[in-house]
Amino acid sequence: MTNVAVIYYSSTGNVHKLALAAAESAEKAGAEVRLRQVAELAPEAAIASNPAWSAHREATKDIAVASLDDLEWADIILFGTPTRYGLPAAQLKQFIDTTGGIWAKGKLVNKVVSSFTSTSQTHGGQESTILALNNTFYHWGAIIVPPGYADGIQFDIKNGNPYGASHVGYNNEAPGTENLAAIEFQARRAVEIGTALKRGLEATA
Ligand SMILES: Cc1cc2nc3c(=O)[nH]c(=O)nc-3n(C[C@H](O)[C@H](O)[C@H](O)COP(=O)(O)O)c2cc1C
Repeated sequence: MTNVAVIYYSSTGNVHKLALAAAESAEKAGAEVRLRQVAELAPEAAIASNPAWSAHREATKDIAVASLDDLEWADIILFGTPTRYGLPAAQLKQFIDTTGGIWAKGKLVNKVVSSFTSTSQTHGGQESTILALNNTFYHWGAIIVPPGYADGIQFDIKNGNPYGASHVGYNNEAPGTENLAAIEFQARRAVEIGTALKRGLEATA
């Protein structure tokens, strides 16, 4: 069995919806899946000032919070984050910054990783967000598996982001069917490649 951890941050629900679709797709592809949100860091006053943020937080309070064990357990890690000024959200970065201990023990080597994001603008920094996460993965010795143009769905102009599924919600519209198809493909591809890599590594161990 291939283990997949979907680890994400979402304040108003867009990345959460992509993460759910990624988890379902990975399960359908035969993986065992853990869906995990990272811990919230924002001050209560900031959350309370945004009704969509408060409502989403309440609606997802039962989703388990990501731990280092989830990273060690996973063969494949799918990371989701909204874009924040062209970068990943601090909440996800904070979680990543707790990995020093397991990184030093080599526990993140050969993990298959793939990332997805959500913005409010078409040119709002999707690629810079995903590339910023990738910087971390080089340090881990992880294997980045992007969607590329490895499936016809990627040629659809509304999907088509080879770096990773990228939703755009100008007025906070939730991800639609094309975004969901893109993340489903990305998760499926990560499971395929991750499973093949795992088998290959086990065969040569
Ligand atoms: C502090 C902050 C910074 C943001 N920076 C960007 C940005 O650089 N580009 C962009 O297009 N959208 C930006 N956004 C919008 C969010 O990325 C967008 O609303 C996203 O869909 C939120 O995802 P979520 O619903 O999962 O929280 C920003 C939002 C906030 C609150």
